[in-house]
Amino acid sequence: MLRQALLAVSRSARAERVISTSPLTRDVVRRYVADDIARTVAELTRRGLLVTVDHLGEDVHDRAQAEGAVRAYLELLRVLPEGADVSVKLTALGLRLSEQLALDNAATICESAALRGITLTLDAEEHDTIPGLHSIHTTLRKEHPGVGVVVQAYLRDSAERCVKLDGARVRLCKGAYTAPGAYTSAADIDRSYARCLRVLMGGTGYPMVATHDPRLIGIAATLAVLEGRDHHGFEYQMLYGVRPDEQERLAAQGARMRVYVPYGADWYAYLMRRLAERPANLAFFARSLLSR
Ligand code: FDA
Repeated sequence: MLRQALLAVSRSARAERVISTSPLTRDVVRRYVADDIARTVAELTRRGLLVTVDHLGEDVHDRAQAEGAVRAYLELLRVLPEGADVSVKLTALGLRLSEQLALDNAATICESAALRGITLTLDAEEHDTIPGLHSIHTTLRKEHPGVGVVVQAYLRDSAERCVKLDGARVRLCKGAYTAPGAYTSAADIDRSYARCLRVLMGGTGYPMVATHDPRLIGIAATLAVLEGRDHHGFEYQMLYGVRPDEQERLAAQGARMRVYVPYGADWYAYLMRRLAERPANLAFFARSLLSR
């Protein structure tokens, strides 16, 4: 219920005006969103962590906004080290205006990233964008085999999707939105996640295990051993600001640990999804408001 309500709030322009203009929100934003991206990436890299950077923004209304997002990514690529990854939301590149526009824009970023030894991963968004996501990913992969894509385990066809994506870089997450017919109970989503992990770890691609859930991290580690994958054969991924100690612990064990770092002014919807994931975050949010 609370999750549904917060996800509804994440789509409300009125709530966005109230919440995002409040100076009181700053502490919460700072926990999850980098304010100086170059400094944050340098600091994480120094601590042995890899990064994937998301220029915040989604659902643009016209071509000019989509071109603005492309420009922001091209500028971002200049400050990222080789081996970094950028995470891209296709609705920020115009997917809801035209699939061709989003494809062209993603290809522009992919080409510039490839020249710098940086990869690109396509985020998975609302359910109506999933067919466009996979169609664009399939086309991009012909020129750029390293382009990655996110699979959301709450979708009932996620394990079949992982089979179809054999050979690709696949980031597996639980799913941060809602979708008709999707799994909703934590147990069903976890089981689906584990099924997807089995397919990805047993396949020929590169699994990116995006979760903070200790049980699923344990299952991923076991499957990697069973499938003969060493530390270079897969990676863990977590969000900036979530379980930073665990991020460092895994990196210290020699695992490839990548942090998803969002930055930019358009943080509202991202922050609301993070609050929806964990009711305790709401208490953190409320405390930081009250302590002012
Ligand atoms: P779960 O929500 O069960 O959390 C497990 C534990 O992790 C919690 O008990 C808590 O300790 C901690 N935790 C989790 N979320 C937290 C939070 N927000 N704040 C503080 N602690 C928290 N989704 C999507 O639909 N499309 C996408 O493209 C992506 N991309 C993506 C990239 C990366 C790198 C990650 C890590 C996640 C995503 N997600 C995503 C989000 C994902 O779908 C999911 O909503 C969150 O990762 C939370 O799910 P967990 O797997 O962490 O489990």
